[in-house]
Amino acid sequence: MRPAAAALAPGPALGHIAARMVDDRQPCDGAGTPEFHRRGGALWCEDVPLADLAARHGTPLYVYSRTAMQTRLAAVRAAFGPDAIVCYAAKANSARAVLQTMHAGGAGFDVVSGGELRRVQAAGLPTAQVVFAGVAKERWEIEAAAAADILAFQVESPHELPLLASVGAQLGRPLRVMLRLNPDVDAGTHAYISTGKKDNKFGVSLAAAGEAVAAIVGSPWLRLVGYHVHLGSQLRSVEPYTAALAKVEAFVAGDPARARGVSHYDLGGGFGIGYGSGEALDVAAVAAALLPRLRARGWRPVVEPGRFLVGDAGVLLTRVLGDKPQGGTEFLLVDAAMNDLLRPALYQAEHPIVAVAPHAGPPRTVDVVGPVCETGDFLARRRDLPPCAPGDLLAVLAAGAYGASMASNYNSRRRPAEVMVAGGVARVIRRRETFEQLLQNEESFDEPTAS
Ligand code: LLP
Repeated sequence: MRPAAAALAPGPALGHIAARMVDDRQPCDGAGTPEFHRRGGALWCEDVPLADLAARHGTPLYVYSRTAMQTRLAAVRAAFGPDAIVCYAAKANSARAVLQTMHAGGAGFDVVSGGELRRVQAAGLPTAQVVFAGVAKERWEIEAAAAADILAFQVESPHELPLLASVGAQLGRPLRVMLRLNPDVDAGTHAYISTGKKDNKFGVSLAAAGEAVAAIVGSPWLRLVGYHVHLGSQLRSVEPYTAALAKVEAFVAGDPARARGVSHYDLGGGFGIGYGSGEALDVAAVAAALLPRLRARGWRPVVEPGRFLVGDAGVLLTRVLGDKPQGGTEFLLVDAAMNDLLRPALYQAEHPIVAVAPHAGPPRTVDVVGPVCETGDFLARRRDLPPCAPGDLLAVLAAGAYGASMASNYNSRRRPAEVMVAGGVARVIRRRETFEQLLQNEESFDEPTAS
């Protein structure tokens, strides 16, 4: 057993599997991490065969490699140096075991709701390195985060300022603020996940930011400790990060009050991954481009990666239910659907899909679709896959980020179970939802009786 496994909560171990370890690892095409690889042709996660997990826990099933998460976090920390604060963006995957893995690796958290803060607290994790972004925070959320004495509030909208000041006054201490600027930089990403352009709802425009700074420094209950710039998600080039910093530097040069007391620069998250066909963002190059400029100002770097830390570390296992040739399309029917993984339907995202134990034979071009009653319910379109039969297992790769965390109950489907693997140990970190849980909050509307 690797040392990492010992830190996991108790649960059933798949000890017998370690006995099957053979040293014939082959890379798996499309996998962004060597923790998902092939042995004897079959797909494994670390030292556990995925087919065993599907047999034991059913499908659809998310499987995460804890080692892959740790490796990515270590790479980001190494790139940005010991002075940087890495705040894992909890929205990417907010399962307790994932939050704990990130904390154990030295990360704090980027939260965007009172609910995400509750998750950090419920996991028993410290909140001293939590930043709280969000375009429309409510008073109860601000009160909860202020009580938890988080690192900083990433203020995105001027309307938050009086609210924050009033909570600070209530507590009798100023709240730390990083002002989120909207630098109007095009991150070159999907329109739904771009956040740093002037027509996006996020951040305060540079035109309005001078006034916001004046309001912050003018309040005894607020303290300006930094600037925040999150440009969007799935960025693949360094340039937007350097362009944004240049805009912030120019803004700060406009008035000495804008730099006073500023000690942090939060360059956001958005670090892109390959999804089988592209290059991941060169995170070390981002650090190399920004760090000298931040050091010169005495600004401590804060980064908020989500996808980069967990995306490649997860797969969604799904079983083939059948075949349906219709209207010139070969539909491959599987048991996972858009409620389990929304990204293909919502962002036209292309996740690599591979057979867990591929059969020999010429590939077929198929649409991989789930049982949900929507034409938009697909996991992939026009995809070449090896021949598949009912009962075969497929793995949707790079599904660790924004997979389970965006899952829903649409069509009254239960959200999938999630398993975390470390070495030869696999544990369920979230059980499959039950039908009882699906129905538990509902009440009948009894006919009112005449009195
Ligand atoms: N910081 C802030 C303020 C954010 O809004 C986000 C993501 C992150 C950090 C982390 O971004 P990342 O490093 O994961 O790219 N559901 C979409 C992604 C939405 C991202 C929203 N904000 C998807 O599945 O692609």
